[in-house]
Amino acid sequence: MTKIEILADKTALVDRAKELVLAQIETTLAERDRFTIALSGGSTPKPLYEALAAEDLPWEKIHVFWGDERYVPPTHPDSNEKMAREAWLDRVAIPPENIHPMPTGAGDPAIDAQTHDLELQAFFGLSDGEFPRFDVMLLGMGDDGHTASLFPHTEALQVCDRLVTVGNKDGQPRITLTIPVLNRSRCILFLVAGANKQTALREVFAPEGDSQSYPSRFIQPQDGELFWLLDEAAGGFIK
Ligand code: 6PG
Repeated sequence: MTKIEILADKTALVDRAKELVLAQIETTLAERDRFTIALSGGSTPKPLYEALAAEDLPWEKIHVFWGDERYVPPTHPDSNEKMAREAWLDRVAIPPENIHPMPTGAGDPAIDAQTHDLELQAFFGLSDGEFPRFDVMLLGMGDDGHTASLFPHTEALQVCDRLVTVGNKDGQPRITLTIPVLNRSRCILFLVAGANKQTALREVFAPEGDSQSYPSRFIQPQDGELFWLLDEAAGGFIK
């Protein structure tokens, strides 16, 4: 199921995203004893993380991962882990072992990608060839149509036999979940705000198009839910 929602502005978009995340937590924990969420980086989700920090949740049952990470130390200003810890995780009583950052310390992104791949296999109890199902996958979209660290015309877009691979943004290495992992999620929330995203959104939503040029087109969950949460500036053209 794919649902496109146009929200008046970024504040309304963040409020709606929080509402959906809280609903997924409640639904998941009514059926299973743990909830898994993979976070996106960039600027859009930061107010969502700040809002979640104010919630009284069963933190011991909540496990936090990332959909992608810049290949920098977790102390670096560009680190997605740093942003999420400061905006949210450092402010709540989530057990440290429930936070599963993408490693970036091996000096070789391919090694760290493989390490995290093994970490995910262990956490989700996967056998060879199996893919994890995250309860919620938060995604953003760049104005070039990338999502996570799946950038246009990069090798990462072809990787379908692993959980984690190396992304490449203008020569800068990234660590990213692969397309099949994203598409296995139970609920994907795309948070896209700003007029600068409009052109890419038109390409992503077009009936025909080139997914290599606009990788967000690859996000078609097999049997999960996909919500596109757009502010008016980004998605107002959709009526
Ligand atoms: C990252 C993100 C990336 C982000 C988009 C949108 O590591 O930067 O995971 O995929 O979601 O680039 O970023 P904004 O929300 O800042 O526009």
